[in-house]
Amino acid sequence: MEVERVQDIANLSKETIPEEFIRSSNEQPALTTVLGTVLEVPVIDLSDPDEENLVKAIVEASSNWGMFQVVNHGIPDETIRKLKEVGQAFFELPQEEKEAYAKPPGSQTIEGYGTKLKKEEEGKRSWVDHLFNKIWPPSEVNYQFWPKNPPSYRETNEEYAKHMRGVANKLFRCLSLGLGLEGDEMKAALGGDDMVYLLKINYYPPCPRPDLALGVPPHTDMSAFTVLVPNDVQGLQACRDEHWYDVEYIPNALIVHIGDQIEILSNGMYKSVLHRTTVNKERTRISWPVFLEPPSKLKVGPHPKLINEANPPKFESKMYSEYCASKLNMTP
Ligand code: OGA
Ligand code: NI
Repeated sequence: MEVERVQDIANLSKETIPEEFIRSSNEQPALTTVLGTVLEVPVIDLSDPDEENLVKAIVEASSNWGMFQVVNHGIPDETIRKLKEVGQAFFELPQEEKEAYAKPPGSQTIEGYGTKLKKEEEGKRSWVDHLFNKIWPPSEVNYQFWPKNPPSYRETNEEYAKHMRGVANKLFRCLSLGLGLEGDEMKAALGGDDMVYLLKINYYPPCPRPDLALGVPPHTDMSAFTVLVPNDVQGLQACRDEHWYDVEYIPNALIVHIGDQIEILSNGMYKSVLHRTTVNKERTRISWPVFLEPPSKLKVGPHPKLINEANPPKFESKMYSEYCASKLNMTP
């Protein structure tokens, strides 16, 4: 099956873009972005020895923004640099070589190289190709979807996954303490050490009309939370008070998005953030989100300890796979 990759379209379209990428006026970035204001989302120093202070900062950011940036996170700059290098190198391979990792048509798994074809609500396409790889736990890893080229792809991503576990565990602990739970209770309710780390690489080629097209359309992540690193091309936007703003990047910081599962588990105390991405006229934008997900068969609902007469559950409990299926099909 021949799928048209955005990267190929970008190579052919130097002045205009196909009509299916042109957003309606209520979505076009040129018409809907608040210019001249870059959102300074909360910056959290994960090495703060005062845990109470750290918890307070994370609670504040997760309840008011659903988004924050983490510095002094312990992932070596060199590990992040290599992660970006090997991911970019994969997308720069000849097209046939990338297609060897294409998500098999009709497959149940999300893994592999791909381009979203399923039309969104308004029937528009997104200016982005992607690669999905589960990188943790080892029992979930399918190396058939991991590029053999560049040769250091595997080692580099395994190294990143190892460091990411430390960051994720610390974030789960703080988020849990912030709700008055024991440090390990939130993670336990989301699957504990069986949680899946799903890496996505978003590859946004240069776009002749960045005023009209979007990278990923507005959404909240379905994950518990997402930890993202971008390359140095601006493009991530967050919605605040119904307006879209560029998010300021701090070099080597990790950008954390609270996802739907933590919003649900916290019974709405923490908010998943509505975000989208724009594209650039001259430069390729790339981003590396890791989605921290409950095992697909696990049921997630508001934590029993957070529910009482005064605080009834605001969300239904659902198996994670069901949650994703119903959100993707946009049925309740
Ligand atoms: C996503 C996403 C943001 C980005 O893939 O879910 O929100 O900066 N990506 O690419
Ligand atoms: Ni997202």
